[in-house]
Formats: sequence, structure tokens, C-alpha cells
Amino acid sequence: MNNLQKKILDLKREKNAVILAHYYVSKEVQEVADYLGDSYYLSKIAAKVNAEIIVFCGVYFMGESAKIMNPNKKVLMPDLYADCPMAHMATVEKIQEIRRIYQDLAVVCYINSTAEIKANSDVCVTSSNALKVIKALTNKYIYFIPDKNLGGYISTLVPEKMFILNDGFCHVHDGISVEAILKMKDEHPKAKVVSHPECSKAVLQLSDYIGSTSGIIDFIENSTDSEFIVCTETGVFHELERKTTGKSFYAASPCQVCPDMKKNTLEKLLQSLEKLSNEVNVESDIASKSIFALEKMHQLAEGEEK
Ligand code: 13P
Ligand code: SF4
Repeated sequence: MNNLQKKILDLKREKNAVILAHYYVSKEVQEVADYLGDSYYLSKIAAKVNAEIIVFCGVYFMGESAKIMNPNKKVLMPDLYADCPMAHMATVEKIQEIRRIYQDLAVVCYINSTAEIKANSDVCVTSSNALKVIKALTNKYIYFIPDKNLGGYISTLVPEKMFILNDGFCHVHDGISVEAILKMKDEHPKAKVVSHPECSKAVLQLSDYIGSTSGIIDFIENSTDSEFIVCTETGVFHELERKTTGKSFYAASPCQVCPDMKKNTLEKLLQSLEKLSNEVNVESDIASKSIFALEKMHQLAEGEEK
């Protein structure tokens, strides 16, 4: 632990705060977290945590969802400008248009979306629970927003439903090319390719395993193979190094760093705890509507971890 980390831990106790961190933030920030995980795990923790103050080291939609589920708690973020660009790649107008066309429709929004989009959706999903949640819906038509890659992938697993996809994507995952993976495969022919479902269809087609961030970590931990080409944000490497011995992980491409997740630095985390600054606030009308989609996700996904 360095001095900054020690100060953060002392202050956190003094202020009765809890720190939640996503696997994509830096190792130093991961080390001071009370809870470290993927977006579904963190959203479950945020729904039941007791502390008066939640400090969310992730991107804005994560802090926003924590606030929606805890309207009476203070939710802080080290940097309020840490924002997921994909969260803004869906529109209320388009949702309304699709609702007018299809009768038996569920609007399913990836948790990587704004509170306004959640308020206009029927249910949220994360990459770890999307399959279970969508299978539990009775609707024939699914308008999946914002991520075309996750939506496209889940549609192949639920052929009984008709998916309408949206054009959103994650630049970190969608930027990984087949060529980059094949080049890495040339260097490490025995390596298994493991990918997050935000990767492109072509990348998913050549992957040996597809799963959420936690799914990838568990797969590698339990695999008898020892080399992996990991197609997700490289922040997961810290947890992989902690949980495994004698295994090697390779990133396929330099694009696998989320600049927004990396805005969460120890300095900014300390400052937000000291000053109780960078508070997340959600307009009450939006918050009271968006909570339904989040609660429905938790209800339908109960017990789902990966
Ligand atoms: P997970 O649901 O796997 O944590 O993914 C969140 C995310 O932002 C992926 O880019
Ligand atoms: Fe958004 Fe992609 Fe960063 Fe995840 S990795 S927060 S989807 S930009």
C-alpha cells in the first residue's frame, strides 16, 4: 500500500464510506476497493450496501445506477467526466418509434445507458445476465439498445425471439480486429481466445469462450489451458494475475484500454472523499421511472453470477 492508498482507507473508515470499483480501473484503485467486480456484481452490491456514502470508481452510468437505487445516500465518483460513450448511443425518439411499430415488444437496455434511456426501457441487462433476463421475457420482439454486438450475440442464443438492433458499440471492444488476434495466435499458437460480447461478430466467431468480464476471469481461472488471448479491457489482468499462477495473458490490440475507466485515479478518489465532492445526482422524475428497469433486471436475473 502506498501513502495515498493508506490515506484513502483511513478517510473511508472515518466517513463511513464504501468504495466500489470495476475491473477496468487501474490496479492501484482496485486495491483500495471494498468491492471489485463486473457491472452486474457492482449493481447488486450498490442495491444492498449499508454505508452512508458510496464512492463508485467506474463510469458515469454505474454511479448513476447506484444513485437511482439509493436516493437517500451520497454517491460520489472520483471523476464525474468518466463516461461511457456507448451509453449515449440510443435515443428516446427511436425507442418511441420502435414501440409504435411493434406491439409485442420489450425494450431491453444494456446497463451501459443513460438514466433517461433506462426510464424509457422495460428492463436492463448486463453482459452477465442478458441471456437469462431476455429468455424470461414473454415478448416476441426485443429492441436491444445500445450495443449492436451484445444484442447480436444474444440474438443468436435466443432464436425464438425477433431482435431489433441499434447501432451502438464500444470503441474499446469493437476496435479489436480479427487480424490482430490472428497475429497474436501466430505468436502463441496454443493460446485460447476469450472475448467479451461487446467485441465484433467476426471476433466472437473465432473465440473459444465468450462471456462478461467476470465470466472471462472465471473461465481462465478454471481452465486447464495456460495461455490466453484476452479480448477485453486489460484492467482484468490484475485480477487474473491475483487469481492464477503459471498462466499467461495477452492483449490482442493496444485499443484495449478504456480511457474513461482510467480517469479514476487515486488522487481524484482521495479528493472526492476529503471534500465529499463529485456527487452524482439524478433528476427525480427520471430516477423514479428508471428504477423499474433496474429492479426488473435484478428480479429476473436473481442467482445469475456470470
Ligand atoms: P461487464 O458487464 O462485463 O462488467 O462490462 C461492462 C463494460 O463496460 C464492458 O465494457
Ligand atoms: Fe464503455 Fe467500452 Fe469503456 Fe465499457 S470499456 S465503459 S463499454 S467505453
